[in-house]
Amino acid sequence: MKLQESTTLQTLERLRAESLDAGGPARREAQHKKGKLMARERIDLLLDENTFEEFDALKASRGGALGGGKTYLGDGVITGHGSIDGREVFVFSEDFTVLGGSLGEAHAQKICKVMDLAVKVGAPIIGINDSGGARIQEGVDALGSYGEIFHRNVRASGVVPQISCIMGPCAGGAVYSPSITDFVFMVEDSSYMFVTGPSVVKTVTHQDISAEELGGASAHATKSGVAHFTVPNDILCLREVRRLINYLPSSNRQRCPIHDLSDAANRTDPALDYLVPRDSSQAYDMRVLIRSILDGAEFMEVHSGFARNIICGFGRLGGQTVGLVANQPAVLAGVLDNDASFKAGRFVRFCDAFNIPLISLVDVPGFMPGPDQEHGGIIRHGAKLLYAFTEATVPRISVIVRKAYGGAYIVMNSKHIHCDVNLAWPTAEIAVMGPKGAAEVIYRKEIQAAENPEELLNQKMEEYRAAFANPFLAAKRGYIDDVIFPRDTRVHLIRTLQMLDSKRVDAPARKHGNIPL
Ligand code: HXC
Repeated sequence: MKLQESTTLQTLERLRAESLDAGGPARREAQHKKGKLMARERIDLLLDENTFEEFDALKASRGGALGGGKTYLGDGVITGHGSIDGREVFVFSEDFTVLGGSLGEAHAQKICKVMDLAVKVGAPIIGINDSGGARIQEGVDALGSYGEIFHRNVRASGVVPQISCIMGPCAGGAVYSPSITDFVFMVEDSSYMFVTGPSVVKTVTHQDISAEELGGASAHATKSGVAHFTVPNDILCLREVRRLINYLPSSNRQRCPIHDLSDAANRTDPALDYLVPRDSSQAYDMRVLIRSILDGAEFMEVHSGFARNIICGFGRLGGQTVGLVANQPAVLAGVLDNDASFKAGRFVRFCDAFNIPLISLVDVPGFMPGPDQEHGGIIRHGAKLLYAFTEATVPRISVIVRKAYGGAYIVMNSKHIHCDVNLAWPTAEIAVMGPKGAAEVIYRKEIQAAENPEELLNQKMEEYRAAFANPFLAAKRGYIDDVIFPRDTRVHLIRTLQMLDSKRVDAPARKHGNIPL
């Protein structure tokens, strides 16, 4: 009897060791030489110490028709759950040392198992991608397995936060799982994502382009908008994921964790009274305002290198997570263009899905004019942002800092699309358009006929500015709930958030709306 027991334990020990060995020491060394951590090392850095509970370490790969003799225990992906600052998360981490982290049937079943559990218990899913894609030896079984993951990504969307870390290759149809998730982190120089790689590009378009240029972290963080965050290495990436998780609720049924940063709710900032330049054509940095109002000046910016004319990100007010959407006058005068509309629209929808109050800081001269934007679909893209703000039922507060012109004023979370509270600074200019454009339209004939057209234009601009380029007309109509002293912005926002805490909205019955995608 005793002999039997020890044999069983030895079997378990042997199987566990085989699973831990993964692709063997040579491949582990090769992984480290590339500056990449091993799948398990990544999990250890991501989770609180000693909290990882692994599933399916002994699940074997299926093998395949082509040279599929060897099977691997664990099948190239480590899956399970653990905690981040005490809150449960589910994780899968692909192991490049096993068949290049390629996705076979067993590998995918392991991922699906943790995704299903995450939705059941209401906890975030964090995926670490480092894979050569569909396992060639498993053919259609591998392809079908991707479909199973995509299906779960979509079912989990808006139910639990989904975060992807791209820490190696991610190519072909495999890119569509991360791209459905809420946030994509990419590690500089060691990760890439593309639907078709450089060699196919060369064959089809005769263009020479490196993997890095085509689908590296920088390309996706600045050009395509696929990556929300880029980080220099694996260690910093996992630290940033922990930071992000701290702002988010575990699921759409829960509230965000409260973190008291010991920043007084009645703290004012007199410097804000002088933030907006007297000359309204001059730029300033909206980040100064953002940092001033948030608890501890802490702000986690999303998509910081993409569509920099709008700023999106998470911060805290009175300990509570808020989502900020702010025009950035320091970049393209803060105009709304295609990319900015897409970026902010998606961010707003994330916040709404996960009960995160939205605050917009408005200084917007309008939508970007020109054939590039029109033909690129500014009508469709602008409509996304309009739709996203309008359908959001979380607490919505808007602060008009300076320009709020035309359609862009309406779109940026105005009272007219039912934001809950709309505040304005005395420097706000709420009008159909800027003074120059307006004077040129209204007084075109007089200006053309004048002896000194420039002088008359300036005079008419001044008249227009005095009549319209201020918040007081809108305040008289009740479209602005209060014109506030800039220094008191934080105080007003915290009080207003407290008031809106119990907000409930009954939406009309429907399957789902039809956002112009
Ligand atoms: C099976 C794979 C594999 C794959 C890599 N390997 N990709 N095995 N299926 N898809 C294996 C290699 O045979 C090798 O095994 C080990 O992983 C490491 O690969 P290397 O090529 O030595 O590494 P490296 O030089 O770093 O190159 C990595 C790579 C390259 C760029 C990812 O391996 C590659 O191009 N792989 C094929 C990528 C691909 O075309 N995948 C299909 C994409 S389409 P050994 O035993 O030598 O260690 C797709 C469709 C999804 O994924 C559809 C969803 C709907």
